[in-house]
Amino acid sequence: MTIIAIDGSSATGKGTLGLKLAQTFDYAYLDTGALYRGVAYKMMQAGDDLTDEIKATAVANGLSSAQMLHLQDESSIRTETCGKGASIVSSVPSVRQALFDFQRRFALNPIKKDGTPAKGAILDGRDIGTVICPDADFKFFLTARAEIRAQRRLKELQLRGLCVIYEDILSEIQARDKRDSERKTAPLKPAEDALIIDTSDMTADEVYARVVRYMEGRS
Ligand code: DC
Repeated sequence: MTIIAIDGSSATGKGTLGLKLAQTFDYAYLDTGALYRGVAYKMMQAGDDLTDEIKATAVANGLSSAQMLHLQDESSIRTETCGKGASIVSSVPSVRQALFDFQRRFALNPIKKDGTPAKGAILDGRDIGTVICPDADFKFFLTARAEIRAQRRLKELQLRGLCVIYEDILSEIQARDKRDSERKTAPLKPAEDALIIDTSDMTADEVYARVVRYMEGRS
C-alpha cells in the first residue's frame, strides 16, 4: 500500500498532479478540500453563519462516508465563495476532527471511483503530510507566487464562463493563504520530510515529471 500526500495552497496545481498520478498508478484519489467545501456549501444553502462553530461541526458530523467520497465530483462547490467558506469552517478544530476518520480510512483502504480497492491512495489538501498521513510514503508540498496563482484561477473561472476580476481573485487568494497558514489547528505548512516544489514557472507536465523522478529515486 502506497500513500502519496500532496499539500499546498490553492491553485498551485495539487489537483492536476494528484489526478495524473492516480491515473498513471491506478491509485484512488481524494481531494480533501472538497470535504470542507461541502460543509461550507451546506451551511450557505441553509443560510447559516459560517462562523457558527456548533452548526459547522453538526454539518460535518452529518456527512456520510458516501457523501464525503462523492463531494469531489460536485461542481456546485467549485466557486470562490465556497472556497472562502471552506477556509473559514476548516479553522474550527471540531470540524477537522469530524472529517479526520474518513480521510484516514480512505488513506489506509483506498477505493477507486468504480468502487474497487486500489493499491495506493493520493490525498491532496493542506495537512495531509503533517496530520492526516504523517506516515505517507511520499510527501509533496506545492507552492507558487500568489500573482501566478491568481492568473491561473482567473483563466479557469473565465473558461467556465464566469465574469471575474483579477484583483479580486488575488486579494482573495492572499486572504485565504493567511487564514489557512495562521490558524492554530493543522495550519498549512510543509511536513519536514516533504519535497517542496515551486510550480510558478513550471507546466503541469514538468511538475508531474519532477514528482515521478523523485518517486523513482532518481533525484
Ligand atoms: O483545496 P481547496 O481550495 O478546495 O480548499 C478549500 C479550503 O479548505 C482551503 O482554503 C482550506 C481548507 N482545507 C483544509 O483546511 N485542509 C485540507 N486538507 C483541505 C482544505
